[in-house]
Amino acid sequence: SAPCPARGRRLAAAPSRSLAGSGAVRNDLHVMCVLYKLCRLPRCYFGALILIVMFLQGSNDSEEDMFGDPDSFYGNSSFLAQVNDIEQKYLQDKNADIKAAGEIVLGNLQSGIHQKKDNFSTSENMVVFKADKEEGFQMNENDPVDSNQELTVSILDDLPSSQLLYFEEVNELSSDSRLSSISEIRNKFVSSSSVKIRSPSSSCPDAEHGNRPTDFSSDSKCDLLKAESLKDHLKSAMTGNAKAQTLQVSKTKQLKEAVLSEEICVARKAIESSSADIGPFYGLPSKVKDLFRQFRGIETLYEWQHACLMLESLQQRKNLIYSLPTSGGKTLVAEIIILQELLCRQKDVLMILPYVAIVQEKIRGLSSFGVELDFLVEEYAGSKGRFPPLKRRKKKSLYIATIEKGHALVNSLIETERMDDLGLVVVDELHMLGEGSRGATLEITLAKILYTSKNTQIIGMSATLNNVGDLQKFLQAEYYTNNFRPVELKEYIKIRDTIYAVDSKTENGFTFSRLLNFKYSSNLEKADPDHIIALVTEVIPEYSCLIFCPTKKNSENVASMVCKYLKKLHREKEKQDLIQNLKNIGNGSICPVLKQTIPFGIAYHHSGLTNDERKSIEEAYSTGVLCLLACTATLAAGVNLPARRVILRAPYVANDFLKKSQYKQMIGRAGRAGIDSAGESILIVQEKDKHLVIFTKLPLENCYSSLLVELTKGIQSLLLSLVGLKIAVTHEEMDSFMCSTLLGVQQQLLSNEKSLSEITKDGIENLIEKGLLKERTSAKDHDSKRTLTITLLGKATYKGAIDLAYCNLLYRELKKGLEGLVLESNLHLLYLATPYDMTFNCSPDWMVYLRQFNQLSAAEQKVVDIVGVPESFITKKASGQAIRKNVDSAVVNRLYLSFVLYALLRETNIWSVSEKFNMSRGYVQNLLNSAASFASCVLHFCEELEEFWVYKALLTELTKQLTYCVKTELIPLMEVAGVLEARAKQLYNAGYKTLAHLANANPETLVKTVEHLSRRQANQIVSSAKMLLSEKAEALQEEVEELLKVPTDIPGTC
Ligand SMILES: Nc1ncnc2c1ncn2[C@@H]1O[C@H](COP(=O)(O)OP(=O)(O)OP(=O)(O)O)[C@@H](O)[C@H]1O
Ligand SMILES: [Mg+2]
Repeated sequence: SAPCPARGRRLAAAPSRSLAGSGAVRNDLHVMCVLYKLCRLPRCYFGALILIVMFLQGSNDSEEDMFGDPDSFYGNSSFLAQVNDIEQKYLQDKNADIKAAGEIVLGNLQSGIHQKKDNFSTSENMVVFKADKEEGFQMNENDPVDSNQELTVSILDDLPSSQLLYFEEVNELSSDSRLSSISEIRNKFVSSSSVKIRSPSSSCPDAEHGNRPTDFSSDSKCDLLKAESLKDHLKSAMTGNAKAQTLQVSKTKQLKEAVLSEEICVARKAIESSSADIGPFYGLPSKVKDLFRQFRGIETLYEWQHACLMLESLQQRKNLIYSLPTSGGKTLVAEIIILQELLCRQKDVLMILPYVAIVQEKIRGLSSFGVELDFLVEEYAGSKGRFPPLKRRKKKSLYIATIEKGHALVNSLIETERMDDLGLVVVDELHMLGEGSRGATLEITLAKILYTSKNTQIIGMSATLNNVGDLQKFLQAEYYTNNFRPVELKEYIKIRDTIYAVDSKTENGFTFSRLLNFKYSSNLEKADPDHIIALVTEVIPEYSCLIFCPTKKNSENVASMVCKYLKKLHREKEKQDLIQNLKNIGNGSICPVLKQTIPFGIAYHHSGLTNDERKSIEEAYSTGVLCLLACTATLAAGVNLPARRVILRAPYVANDFLKKSQYKQMIGRAGRAGIDSAGESILIVQEKDKHLVIFTKLPLENCYSSLLVELTKGIQSLLLSLVGLKIAVTHEEMDSFMCSTLLGVQQQLLSNEKSLSEITKDGIENLIEKGLLKERTSAKDHDSKRTLTITLLGKATYKGAIDLAYCNLLYRELKKGLEGLVLESNLHLLYLATPYDMTFNCSPDWMVYLRQFNQLSAAEQKVVDIVGVPESFITKKASGQAIRKNVDSAVVNRLYLSFVLYALLRETNIWSVSEKFNMSRGYVQNLLNSAASFASCVLHFCEELEEFWVYKALLTELTKQLTYCVKTELIPLMEVAGVLEARAKQLYNAGYKTLAHLANANPETLVKTVEHLSRRQANQIVSSAKMLLSEKAEALQEEVEELLKVPTDIPGTC
């Protein structure tokens, strides 16, 4: 659709502006304030004029106004042209009726709120926003979302507050009276019912005519002269003010906030008055739409997204499951629903995502929305998160959490009777319900929400659901599905040199497509018998390609093999930069495989890389510096890295045959929306496995409750916390709760031998045996009802989210520690905080074990003895001698892992430690993250047991050290979500040393001074830092208010 004249005019006048938003309104208010004071207009006329300008201008970019260089406006003709323009408008309209002006504005405001469905015209797969045209919000199609223009701040966006100060000195009018006059008028308009919309053509001169009206009367010519003098006056005033100091909090910001909060207020009222009443953007302020455009580049909603948001069930706040293929755009729908909850319904929201890295990614992505729309984004991942969350009086919070932290958060809200604050819970990748202990934890969380809070809405989404009926029953949810995919996906399989198209209609599941065309030498044939190079070179380097491999080692081998037969290609400088960047990350070391493959645009990607390395490689792939990644299945889980072609090296993940859902997740990466016309996947199958390809015809796997399989982390843990939280304290209540779980829905399927009630009874008995629950008969009850109570140990266990399999052991070890904790170093404490579940797949290198032992001080060697590993055991193992003595291998392994952690805390260098212990650096980092998480769990455990008071201080410090295993000065920077060590070092060296430095940084300067930092990343870092800073400041303010609150029950007062 063609840009509206008003928008075109704005772009011509101020090309440095980007997208619409209320920023323009506030900036225009600045200009109007200036005019008002100079011309001494009657106040009511001034108010009307402001609103006219708001209408004319639409809105615009909302980048922060606090970084502007005051010098930048000098000689800026666009600002003066705007002043001229406004002056002309005033002169032309000066005899107009104020009421009429008010009605115009009312039309603007109300048309925004009540546009309903006619805001959207539906084309094939797109829902186009029409309203923009009329309001001048339409974005110029050529406006780059992430271009230089975005942050080049025009004078109108960035009039420093010193300018206002200057004019305030000239005129005595207080800013309060100005504000109130604006809001008075707006309120009056909103409450009125008459609606008139001025046609854009009548209010906005043609774009080609720039800012100037084409026709002047003699009167207006005369006035123009006055305007010229006003222009001169402004020019000199601004020059003078260039030297004035800028205020910390700009007035424009305050005005912007006032306007936005009014808009939100109106949207909220619209939602309250009628659930079907749709505001400018699904009940949300139009600014939200602009932000999606600005931050995500999303211009229009897909048709299904619109349909889904318009669902009757959503309007009625029913629970909803929706399922669409990968890359279908599910996230956007969830985000709009989240914003409705935060802004319009004023409730907190919990978003549950599967992995820490994805939580951090989301925090970065949504912080900018929080900064603009005035809500908090709080991280609940790893060892981060407060339980219960701080009660915020002013702002609403979006908690973004991993499954485990989401569970702990819900527990804490139930315990403090604050579930009513939680309006919405969104679960991404809902199929995770069927995936082991994490699935069990997710099921427990959702079951508790359903049982304790009827007003909390639950939304679940996934690309790979089959038995939706069961899930619907469990979540009492409606279901929406659609096959939409923005880019068509063509599925193929390769057997020998033949490519077949996957075709579910045929008997074996595929039909002939073509023969693979290649010429191999005999050497190449030996190196690449599956002809991966032939498949790859059909697409790279022009297009991108992913090869999913069954194992980590295999992905490294494939990357090395492919690059041997390729020529070094374009963008060599950027590839060298990437190598240098990886070297910096590794403190001078780089993985030899990556060093070899990157010059060819190839890398591997798996969990053996550190988070820093993974992120650099992902970014290089996203920007096209790398064109091929050989990866493992981990890349398919949630990371948005699409490719033109996806190759599955074999139908296996490790030794297991590929599941249909895994296959779907992997091939789902094929096809980049907006870039490729189609994506294709090729599964390489050996002749012997040909018959197994039939799996492509089968339905997706069902999702089954994991509560029974994961006994200690599943049903037992659930029963314990039900008593702990007083959700269910009798057998009857337990039974009733269990029926509401997914296990309850699937009970016939999952247990033939025992009924659910019997399983529950067994679980309770087991908990009593473990000393976690007690049963007592209440004498008061006539029928002697038996009630369950939780023991102190039980409470500590569920509060600390400790696996029930280890709670007694942990208690014993902590108790033993009280008798003689060695505090010469943190080794002993580290041992206690080393996660039990990592000890199983640890196989110590005995020589390393001995060497590490020998390097310990005498006191530290005593720790080894205290925990139960005799020195003789280590020496014998290292020299390969037989051992008769029975030593607990779990303890031996756990101690070995605590040696690794000990080395990490001392050296703060993952690379050297991984070399020393001969472990992959990714594993070492994973151990560190798990230890940080477990240390915070042990801390919560100790907090419940008075006897362990001494551990509280010690573990608080240790958790911090493990969370940020870096030099102390980097910690404040690494608190910002997604700022990893390498980036923190760069920022620190560039002079950004504190959170406040980052929150107040100019993204433009960051891009210039920090290497390998894109504009998008710089913006995200600044937004995340702003968010964290404001979150911390608010928390302190709330504390102050709480402290100063006068109690109502002071003795002696009535
Ligand atoms: N209306 C839209 N217009 C253009 N791009 C869109 C639109 N909606 C979503 N996208 C983009 O499509 C990409 C994929 O979207 P998203 O991550 O939400 O997919 P998904 O359905 O969650 O897939 P998966 O199941 O793989 O997680 C993202 O880059 C997103 O920004
Ligand atoms: Mg998704």
